[in-house]
Amino acid sequence: MPISLAETIDDVRAFLAPHRAAGRRVALVPTMGALHEGHMALVRQARAECDLVVVSIFVNPTQFAPNEDLAQYPRTFESDRALCEREGVDLIFLPGNEMMYPAGYATYVAVERLSEPLCGRTRPTHFRGVTTVVAKLFNIVQPDAAYFGWKDAQQVVVIKRMVEDLNLSVAIRALPIVREPDGLAMSSRNRYLDPESRRQAPAIFAALEEAEAAWKTGRAKNALALTALIREYITTHTVGRIDYVEIVSLDRLASLERVEPGNTLIAVAVYLGGARLIDNLRL
Ligand code: PAJ
Repeated sequence: MPISLAETIDDVRAFLAPHRAAGRRVALVPTMGALHEGHMALVRQARAECDLVVVSIFVNPTQFAPNEDLAQYPRTFESDRALCEREGVDLIFLPGNEMMYPAGYATYVAVERLSEPLCGRTRPTHFRGVTTVVAKLFNIVQPDAAYFGWKDAQQVVVIKRMVEDLNLSVAIRALPIVREPDGLAMSSRNRYLDPESRRQAPAIFAALEEAEAAWKTGRAKNALALTALIREYITTHTVGRIDYVEIVSLDRLASLERVEPGNTLIAVAVYLGGARLIDNLRL
């Protein structure tokens, strides 16, 4: 089947209706476009697990603060479409701002507490925008399963909470971070990096790996020692400015004093060369 494009909510519903009537399992991969291998890994998993794959491409204004990069965010629709076509995506949903937020729009979905720490501290309105648009996309597409990346770990935790709290009947699948060969987590925002920053950026993941090794060998036992090690590594290997380095529980995103195996997220955000890069490790 060739790839289809829907720009309206009615078109999405009309496209999906016969498939749903035939009992097909529908997957949704929500994205903001500028697609890369991290996105395509989600698409491939969706393809493997479901009968029909919908990719949404929408640079969601409500998750950007006024001082953030909404205007510069890369928009690369032709290459996105080609990648989707190659991976056997059935439908691209490409709504405009007026389709998602028409005049008079007034309703928001906010997940309390979990939206506050980590990225929520520097981006206090970000997750409200994410949960609002994802709830809307779930209502529009009504997918059986939706695919997200651990690259945005807090986003995964927040969305899982929303699905549980609002009794939404969609299975949330979270997939591992896809990295460049040198370890840098793939991100649409990596395009912002100038060559020197791009050269330094892999140090962020290297710092996380150092911390993991130090924890495993017992060289650094508690969260204080581990975060100090990560900070030290990043500041000696990059000119970036650290936003945060935190060790939190995966279930509640609450600060931990010690690693709790199976329930620990080490998360970092660094401003480097015009980009704000995030990365994390689960232990
Ligand atoms: P975006 O940044 O385009 O990412 C879309 C999905 O791809 C997210 O689930 C993200 O975690 C995943 N992803 C991005 N880079 C990845 C990588 N290197 N490895 C694995 N997965 C990766 O996240 C958003 O868009 C938006 O907040 C959205 C959920 C679409 C709501 O607007």
